[in-house]
Amino acid sequence: MARKPIIVRTVPALRKAIAQLRKRRKTIALVPTMGALHEGHFSLVRHARKRAGAVAVSIFVNPKQFAPTEDFGSYPRNFARDVAALTELGVDLVWAPTDAAMYPDGFSTAVLPDGPAKAGLEDTYRPHFFGGVTTVVAKLFLQVGADVALFGQKDYQQLKVVTRMASDLDIPTKVVGCPTVREKDGLALSSRNVYLSPAERQTAPVLYRVLKDSAARIKAGETIAKILADGRATITNAGFAVDYLEARHAETLEPVATYGDGPIRLLVAARLGKTRLIDNLGV
Ligand code: PAJ
Repeated sequence: MARKPIIVRTVPALRKAIAQLRKRRKTIALVPTMGALHEGHFSLVRHARKRAGAVAVSIFVNPKQFAPTEDFGSYPRNFARDVAALTELGVDLVWAPTDAAMYPDGFSTAVLPDGPAKAGLEDTYRPHFFGGVTTVVAKLFLQVGADVALFGQKDYQQLKVVTRMASDLDIPTKVVGCPTVREKDGLALSSRNVYLSPAERQTAPVLYRVLKDSAARIKAGETIAKILADGRATITNAGFAVDYLEARHAETLEPVATYGDGPIRLLVAARLGKTRLIDNLGV
C-alpha cells in the first residue's frame, strides 16, 4: 500500500517537513489546488513526479479569489477523498493551511497583478479574482520554496498571470503549464462540473466543439471576427449566456485580427444555468 503523505496545516510544520524532504529528495515540485480533486489535478501531480524528487500538493479554498456573490461557501470540499487519491499517486506532502495560518488576524498585504491580469478576459467578469490568486500563489511559492510549480492550461489566463508574477517578484519557482484534461466528449474537467444538471451536462461540450471548429476555420484563413461571431451565436443558441469568446495572442493575450498575428489562443467563458464554465484552445 502507498504511504500516506505528510499533512501539515501551519507554516512552522510546513517548513520542518520541507526541510526534511529537501535533505532526502533534493528537489521539490508544488501543485497548488483548491481541492475537490479530479483527473485534471492528478495529471499535474503525474507531471510533477517526473520533474522533482518530491511532490507537494496544496489544498486551500482561497477566500480572497471569490467575490461575495460567488460560490466560496458551497465550493465542493472533500479532504478525505482528496488525501486518499493523493496517497495512491505517491504524493509526499499535503499543505492544507487553515484560514488563520494563511491569513492571520491583521493580514494586510496583497499582490496586485497587471499585464495579463488586465487582458479584458476573466478580469472583466471577476475583477477581484487575479489579485486573490497572485496573493495566495505568491505566499504558496514562498512557503514551500519549490523548484517547480505545475499549473493547468485549463485556466490559461491564470497560468500567464502566475508566470508573470513569479518572474516579476524574482521568486525562483519555475512555473510550468500542463495540457487540459477532458471528458471523452471534450468537456474540460473542472471541480465546478458537479453543479451541472444532467441536461446541462449534455450541452456543456458545445464550448469545446466551438473552440475546435473556430481553430480549424482560423487555420483555413477565414476572417477571425466572423468566426467568433458565429461561435458566440452557436454557444448562445445552445442555451449559454456568453461572457466572451476571443482570439488572443497566446503569450501576451493581446487581441489578434489575423492568423498572421499569432500564435493564437482561443478563450471562452459562458454561463449555463448557475454554472460558469471556461475553456481555451491553441490554434
Ligand atoms: P483549482 O481550480 O483547484 O485548480 C488547480 C490547478 O488544476 C490549476 O492549475 C488548474 O489550471 C488545474 N486544472 C483544473 N482543471 C484542469 C483540467 N481539466 N486539466 C488540467 N489542469 C486542470 O486554479 C486554482 O485551483 C486556484 O486558482 C489556485 C491556483 C490553486 C490558487 O488558489
